[in-house]
Amino acid sequence: MDRIRIVGGERLEGTISISGAKNAALPLMIASLLTSDTLTLKNVPRLADVTLLARILGNHGVDITVAGKRAGQRNGDGQTVKLTAEEIVDTTAPYEMVARMRASFWVLAPLLARCGEAKVSLPGGCAIGTRPVDLHLAALKALGAQIDLEGGYVIARAPKGLTGNRVPLAKVSVGATHNSLMAAVLARGDTIIENAAREPEVADLALCLVEMGAKIDGIGTSTLLVEGVTSLHGAEHTVLPDRIETGTYAMAAAITGGEVFLDGARADLLQEALQLLRATGVEIVESPSGIKVSRNGGGLSAVSVETQPFPGFPTDLQAQLMALMCMAKGTSQVRETIFENRFMHVQELARLGARIELKGDTALVTGVNDLRGAQVMATDLRASVSLIIAGLAAQGETLIGRVYHLDRGFERIEEKLGQCGAHIERLSG
Ligand code: EPZ
Repeated sequence: MDRIRIVGGERLEGTISISGAKNAALPLMIASLLTSDTLTLKNVPRLADVTLLARILGNHGVDITVAGKRAGQRNGDGQTVKLTAEEIVDTTAPYEMVARMRASFWVLAPLLARCGEAKVSLPGGCAIGTRPVDLHLAALKALGAQIDLEGGYVIARAPKGLTGNRVPLAKVSVGATHNSLMAAVLARGDTIIENAAREPEVADLALCLVEMGAKIDGIGTSTLLVEGVTSLHGAEHTVLPDRIETGTYAMAAAITGGEVFLDGARADLLQEALQLLRATGVEIVESPSGIKVSRNGGGLSAVSVETQPFPGFPTDLQAQLMALMCMAKGTSQVRETIFENRFMHVQELARLGARIELKGDTALVTGVNDLRGAQVMATDLRASVSLIIAGLAAQGETLIGRVYHLDRGFERIEEKLGQCGAHIERLSG
């Protein structure tokens, strides 16, 4: 198993190019199931989750090709992926696949909408919480699907097609909004999705569906109005930049007292996180081509934050912010309101010398003057990157195990940080 070795203490300085968003690329790839034409996605990140989803979609009959390098393209530019689901050959998503990547559960809606049936394994729990699927199922039932649970599988049937309806989502859920949208676009009549997630990745999916011929109003708001159409066609869509990767590198630059330009980042996708960084004493300069983050000499101040659905502070940046706050002056309060068990990084950060006290859903982080390198273990994607952030500032060597978590969501992280002066390397085997 690969490990990452960091020798901390170097100030990050330079430019990091921001990749396409993993959490947009995955539902966009799944949307290819909705049409027999080709969906071309540009700026797709090179990530383990993208490769795994390509294999899962391949099982349903989707042909996938990745375009080769083009003139003028730099190494590391996003990939162009063409997905063609001319014929759906299998409407079952087996346990072995869905258990490895929760987002693959979202094939449920497009398979059901296009084929009138789908059998998809329940995803089960994961390191960050129980993560139920009740909202997904309630939404599909509202659109007329018959849902049965059998042997750990959701069996959804709508032999005469889905019918538009009111879909009131009881809680804000990114995945349930994706599933509701992909079901509603091919349903007969109008659908109103209420309390929809406003995450930019939901809007990106909705925009792509419109490019494929869907009729959707209210994109970016919590009420999505969908007028069903009989079929969708091919389209070309560019995946939006990854706001979580952006926030992660902003915090990495901040903890090292460095100066980094995040090339291609879109500040409008993470205003709350940028405001919070400003409150800690970090200088942020937004421009159309990216975001400059710098902390030249000044200290870091403690802040209090709670995670919230977009436009609030994202749960996917909670672990990274906590790493940053380990070196801030004073005590920060970090409350996690989205997932009940997303504090796995706390005990690992403590191994590096962090002072964190957990009280239910809140972590009290008291800044220390120095972190010290140690051997630590990645437990999930965002937790593992928080250990990298802390390791960059820690004195001496930090060795991070189980880095496959990292490869699911961060493209070429050692290269991107290394180019800015970090001493970071991957140790294979
Ligand atoms: C998406 O997960 C993201 N994953 C997560 O990112 C992210 O943390 C999360 O949204 C919240 O922003 C992808 O986009 C691939 P939810 P999702 O449904 O859709 C509860 C990462 O690190 N809920 O918005 O699965 C749920 O338990 C990942 O990239 C129900 O109760 O999250 C949670 O408390 C991790 N019933 C809340 O809603 C349901 O049927 C929000 O979850 C569905 C969800």
